[in-house]
Amino acid sequence: MKIKTPAISLLFASVMASSASVIATEPVQPISPVKEINLAQVELGKKLFFDPRLSKSGFISCNSCHNLSMGGTDNLKTSIGHKWQQGPINSPTVLNSSLNIAQFWDGRAADLKAQAGGPIANPGEMASTHTLALDVLQSIPAYTTEFKQVFGSDKINIEQVTQAIAEFEKTLVTPNSRFDQWLLGNKNAITKQELAGYNLFKQVGCTACHNGEALGGNSFQKMGLVKAYKTSNKAEGLSGVTGKDADRFKFKVPTLRNVEMTYPYFHDGEAATLTDAVDVMGKLQLGKQFSKTENAQIVAFLKTLTGDQPSFLMPILPASVDETPRPAPFE
Ligand code: HEC
Ligand code: HEC
Repeated sequence: MKIKTPAISLLFASVMASSASVIATEPVQPISPVKEINLAQVELGKKLFFDPRLSKSGFISCNSCHNLSMGGTDNLKTSIGHKWQQGPINSPTVLNSSLNIAQFWDGRAADLKAQAGGPIANPGEMASTHTLALDVLQSIPAYTTEFKQVFGSDKINIEQVTQAIAEFEKTLVTPNSRFDQWLLGNKNAITKQELAGYNLFKQVGCTACHNGEALGGNSFQKMGLVKAYKTSNKAEGLSGVTGKDADRFKFKVPTLRNVEMTYPYFHDGEAATLTDAVDVMGKLQLGKQFSKTENAQIVAFLKTLTGDQPSFLMPILPASVDETPRPAPFE
């Protein structure tokens, strides 16, 4: 149909204009759904993300520490690695991680592809080697066939593995949160208390660091800007990557998307609740002591940031064959 009635086009124009102006003036933008994705790579990457045979034990997959049923985290202070090793740092969510300027708390991996090879061979995480992981995959005919279909070569290499996982991770965005609905013009999508929390969040300056689509992920900032942060955790943040003393204790600002699901908080996992995390942020980053009411308002706002969680059929992994190297969970 070519001709719109004037009433409808006017209404449409005004809705567009008002939502566009809201977006332009707010420090937070709605999450866009994924576009331009290689679906064949995504399907393969999804299997790999869930496949524990990429670990030495045959027991730990990416999903063990980035559980997609739990906001892309393990909800532990620090993760559990091979042979129940205590991990050094809190596991960040993989949800919306494609929006990060770099990966890891200290940004040492440039992007998702560069990140994905790390955990497989990290002795404290999956404790395999790239050679062993590739031998496992190469031994399984259904995998070699699928890799060939997707990448066109007979031999599986680590580049292909990390590329497929990264492509899958790009699909893990969480649009359509109540707050995004509000940003897009639905004024009834959030309550008065939640709106008061957002206004306070902006007014006191949380948005200096938590802004953009992900409310974070786009800069490195000092933890303990106004008042020092005390922790027994040994991580020093960005200085480990740049070697600059000025970067000590600068961490990648975590996203606040889905933050109600990604407890406990901070790189050391020491804040058990959102109430604690907001209290610490107010005091240490802004020199501000929130009243109980103010804290509750901000927490209520943060809970509006939970978006549509990834939803797909559980991947069924191809079975190992006689030649597949066996898992070694206790070595
Ligand atoms: C044993 C637990 C564990 C396993 C298994 C694991 N990770 Fe992680 N992951 C972590 C921890 C802990 C960090 C943070 C490390 C750091 O910043 O130094 C992390 C960081 C990440 C990040 C960076 C997110 C961000 O915001 O910086 C991504 C992406 C990621 N992992 C994806 C994966 C993928 C893909 C796999 C499987 C190949 C995987 N992880 C396996 C624990 C794990
Ligand atoms: C100067 C920059 C800055 C400001 C201002 C700031 N934050 Fe943060 N925020 C950070 C950094 C950096 C971290 C990670 C610190 C760490 O893990 O050690 C963080 C972590 C958090 C976390 C924990 C997220 C997670 O997954 O671990 C929450 C919640 C949070 N901030 C909320 C707020 C609120 C609410 C405000 C305003 C009262 C605020 N922040 C102000 C930089 C900032």
